[in-house]
Amino acid sequence: MTASKRLAMMAAILAAITLPGIVSSQSNDDETTLPEYSRKGADTCLACHDDETVLTMFRTKHAVPDDPHAPFGHGQLQCEACHGPGGKHTARVRRGEERPPIPAFGSASTASVADQNSNCINCHEKDLGFAWHASSHDSNSVSCAGCHDSHVDNDPVLTTSTQAEVCFDCHQQQRTQSMKPYAHPIRQGEMSCDSCHSAHGETTDLLLVRQTTNAICFDCHAEQRGPYLWEHAPVSEDCTNCHDPHGSSQPGMLTMRAPLLCQGCHSQDGHPSLPQDETGLPSGMPSQYLLGQSCLNCHSEVHGSNHPSGSKLMR
Ligand code: HEC
Ligand code: HEC
Ligand code: HEC
Ligand code: HEC
Ligand code: HEC
Ligand code: HEC
Ligand code: HEC
Ligand code: HEC
Ligand code: HEC
Ligand code: HEC
Repeated sequence: MTASKRLAMMAAILAAITLPGIVSSQSNDDETTLPEYSRKGADTCLACHDDETVLTMFRTKHAVPDDPHAPFGHGQLQCEACHGPGGKHTARVRRGEERPPIPAFGSASTASVADQNSNCINCHEKDLGFAWHASSHDSNSVSCAGCHDSHVDNDPVLTTSTQAEVCFDCHQQQRTQSMKPYAHPIRQGEMSCDSCHSAHGETTDLLLVRQTTNAICFDCHAEQRGPYLWEHAPVSEDCTNCHDPHGSSQPGMLTMRAPLLCQGCHSQDGHPSLPQDETGLPSGMPSQYLLGQSCLNCHSEVHGSNHPSGSKLMR
């Protein structure tokens, strides 16, 4: 038996489960007496929608018939649990008339995003948690279907190696950054956005998974946690003072190269950046402080120092 035949058979068996509360109307043509929902649930739908892209539904957790809470569990509304009432959509259409649409998903949908989401939320309120309803995704009308592909058994947004592609659809700037030479191994498929962000919302700013940026970084970069005898103030404050977590053209994912990075905060007095000779006049020779273009040659302990005489972050 081919995979698609097996799917079709499974579909038929599943769809044979009778649906509650759905009474057949006497005349399917009369708008006013049409039942809200289709007469035979999935069986009705599959008569017209039997493409492989639809049938893959039967490989997902949503189609597990033993799960009473799933759309295909006993007594549930099957396809219409997500798509909404399909009574009018499935009724006979006179020649030349257009088939009334079913409230679908995506930009072509006849339903508002709030209505589309409410079908999913009916069953997933607990998984989402309170934060969803205040999140920037919810308040900017991003639908569940904007991230979730419900007809495939391997929803890409749930898999580390494929998740970022879904997010990049809307977050172009992060896509560009991830392609830069120095980035977290996201394009290699070894890390995903949810290492640091909670897509469903969080009580923090920018959907961050922890209360502070540094707490997130320390999850994986314990070496930089300290505590240090000599702290470097911008490090304890926020790692993104110097690093761009989405990627950068500078080695070490730095926002800028040294010495510019350091000189963004530190005055050049005493550490002149203009080449000069012993008398203090400009010369053709670079200052020893700028040798190798790097403050790090001397101030190597840029994240902090535990050496008794490390106050200048040099050891
Ligand atoms: C009598 C045939 C027929 C039946 C039965 C039927 N549909 Fe449709 N459906 C269509 C046609 C025709 C279209 C519009 C053409 C298209 O986009 O494929 C459509 C469109 C759709 C769309 C929108 C597709 C898109 O690309 O946006 C969805 C979703 C849908 N149907 C779901 C269902 C569901 C769920 C059921 C069962 C409750 C169902 N249909 C029953 C014929 C049918
Ligand atoms: C768990 C919720 C859920 C269930 C159950 C479900 N669908 Fe869908 N369906 C969706 C979502 C979400 C989309 C939009 C997919 C997208 O935009 O990527 C969709 C898209 C579609 C489309 C649009 C055409 C396409 O292939 O893109 C059709 C047709 C469709 N579904 C028919 C069905 C039928 C028939 C059933 C029952 C056998 C069903 N759906 C069950 C959520 C569901
Ligand atoms: C009738 C209830 C019901 C509806 C409607 C429903 N779901 Fe589910 N969903 C479930 C159940 C039950 C599971 C399986 C939970 C488990 O096994 O942990 C599930 C699982 C999932 C999963 C996890 C899948 C996986 O492979 O781990 C996602 C994501 C999901 N649903 C999203 C959606 C979205 C998006 C919609 C709307 C388009 C939707 N659901 C509509 C009941 C529902
Ligand atoms: C911005 C993208 C995005 C949107 C929008 C989104 N999700 Fe998710 N969803 C994810 C990601 C990423 C995961 C996996 C990581 C996680 O659990 O946070 C996930 C996991 C899930 C899971 C399975 C894990 C669990 O928590 O049990 C369910 C169920 C789910 N989402 C339902 C929904 C529903 C319902 C909506 C709409 C109200 C929705 N999602 C909107 C990205 C999204
Ligand atoms: C369908 C489009 C869409 C998808 C897909 C999407 N987002 Fe968003 N996201 C938005 C919109 C719209 C906003 C709010 C406006 C903005 O800040 O750009 C937003 C905002 C954000 C923010 C900033 C939050 C804030 O408070 O400003 C983060 C972080 C984010 N998304 C992460 C993700 C991640 C991670 C994924 C993938 C799991 C994802 N998004 C998928 C549309 C999307
Ligand atoms: C290593 C942790 C980390 C990873 C992985 C990560 N982010 Fe972020 N993201 C952050 C931090 C920290 C901020 C806030 C500071 C900043 O703007 O740089 C942020 C901010 C954002 C913002 C808001 C930007 C703004 O300027 O308002 C968006 C959108 C976003 N991230 C999307 C994504 C997407 C999409 C992915 C996956 C491709 C992703 N992030 C992966 C840590 C991360
Ligand atoms: C989920 C784990 C994880 C989290 C969270 C995380 N990182 Fe990373 N980070 C990595 C991995 C993996 C690498 C790549 C290591 C390698 O290639 O050897 C890396 C690499 C780096 C590098 C470059 C190292 C080098 O050798 O060039 C910097 C800088 C960095 N991360 C900073 C941060 C910052 C800042 C944060 C917080 C916003 C953060 N990371 C959060 C896992 C993580
Ligand atoms: C004042 C700027 C600055 C701040 C703030 C900063 N870093 Fe760095 N970081 C650097 C520089 C410069 C390098 C490159 C060091 C080198 O090339 O030897 C670096 C390198 C790294 C590396 C690569 C491995 C290593 O030790 O060389 C990691 C990981 C890292 N930083 C993590 C973090 C984390 C986590 C934070 C926040 C707690 C943070 N950084 C805050 C400047 C900073
Ligand atoms: C975001 C701003 C910022 C950046 C970028 C920055 N620093 Fe600092 N740095 C500070 C602050 C604030 C102090 C604490 C000054 C104080 O306590 O008087 C400090 C302290 C120091 C000290 C110890 C000074 C003292 O008087 O004890 C050294 C050395 C130092 N930084 C070197 C560097 C180097 C090298 C870089 C580049 C890799 C750098 N800093 C990047 C803000 C910054
Ligand atoms: C050749 C080694 C060397 C290089 C290169 C160097 N420094 Fe220093 N820096 C020192 C020494 C030595 C001190 C300590 C001076 C003292 O104790 O009075 C110092 C002190 C500092 C201090 C503390 C200021 C103070 O008055 O105590 C800061 C901030 C600093 N350097 C920043 C930088 C920055 C930014 C760069 C890159 C532009 C840089 N350094 C390059 C050797 C160097």
